[in-house]
Amino acid sequence: MKGRILAMLRSSRGPVPVQALCMDLGLSQAALALEIAELEALGYGIESTAAGYRLADGRDALYPWEFGDREDRIHYLDEVLSTMDIARDLARDGCPHMTVVIAERQTRGRGRLKRTWLSSEGGLYFNMVLRPDIPPNQGYKTNFLASLVLARILADNYGIEARVKWPNDVLVHGEKISGILAELETLGSRVDYINMGIGINVNNDPRPSELKATSVKRLTGRNVSRRDLLALFLDTFESRLAGVDEDDVIGEWKRLTVTLNRRVRIVTAQSVSEGIAIDVTDAGSLLLKQADGSVKTVVYGDCFLV
Ligand code: BTN
Repeated sequence: MKGRILAMLRSSRGPVPVQALCMDLGLSQAALALEIAELEALGYGIESTAAGYRLADGRDALYPWEFGDREDRIHYLDEVLSTMDIARDLARDGCPHMTVVIAERQTRGRGRLKRTWLSSEGGLYFNMVLRPDIPPNQGYKTNFLASLVLARILADNYGIEARVKWPNDVLVHGEKISGILAELETLGSRVDYINMGIGINVNNDPRPSELKATSVKRLTGRNVSRRDLLALFLDTFESRLAGVDEDDVIGEWKRLTVTLNRRVRIVTAQSVSEGIAIDVTDAGSLLLKQADGSVKTVVYGDCFLV
């Protein structure tokens, strides 16, 4: 209902008469007044005039009703430890494909290799529970696809020169704007679910302690709608995911990457190694040519350009 009320207010330049709202929505005046009061309590600026209700401040809200048909699959939380845990619980309880968990703030946001993901207000912190019909050894493709889709959206819609870095970071001029952390659970020989957490620096100011990080706001000089960015990402990602097993995701990713033919330091849970990143295999592993000429295949780790 809240989504429908907001849509009507947004589509009108002036105030929308109470009668028209009640008729279209099938609500009594009292029920409408209650919905309006709830929206105001959630931070929407709604003016009540003699001619009806007018949306004075639509705010950049991430509530489920802001996402149209996705409403039933969106879980919005104000503050959580980490959206990874909430999404995992939902996945284990059998939630549908493309269930999304969004948090305004995370107090224990996690990054890869047990790092912390600082999650101050203004950023986008969300998880998607995916149930693609693919074998587990194809699961890595979804992560590459997500970083690829996000980099293209930032380039095409926000004029940001975004590139991808192995394995799944999005960088702009060497500074990180987004990171992905994913876990996969199998059921027999198929993927049961992929729990993919994505952090995007949007309107937040990454702290100086977050070395080499940037945000959409810093790059564009303005606040952007997180809702619009997330909605576009979800739509594009979902439709590309449907054809992921036939897509040359890695080939497309390689055309957008800053990792290849560069000297890199690879950090894994066990070791640190350096060399030239010569290729990424069709299975998503990084091929590292070391000083002694040997080529090491790195399946999981973090990569720093040196
Ligand atoms: C990385 O680059 O190290 C991965 C960062 C992943 C951060 C996201 S924010 C939403 C989700 N919840 C978390 O705790 N982490 C991921």
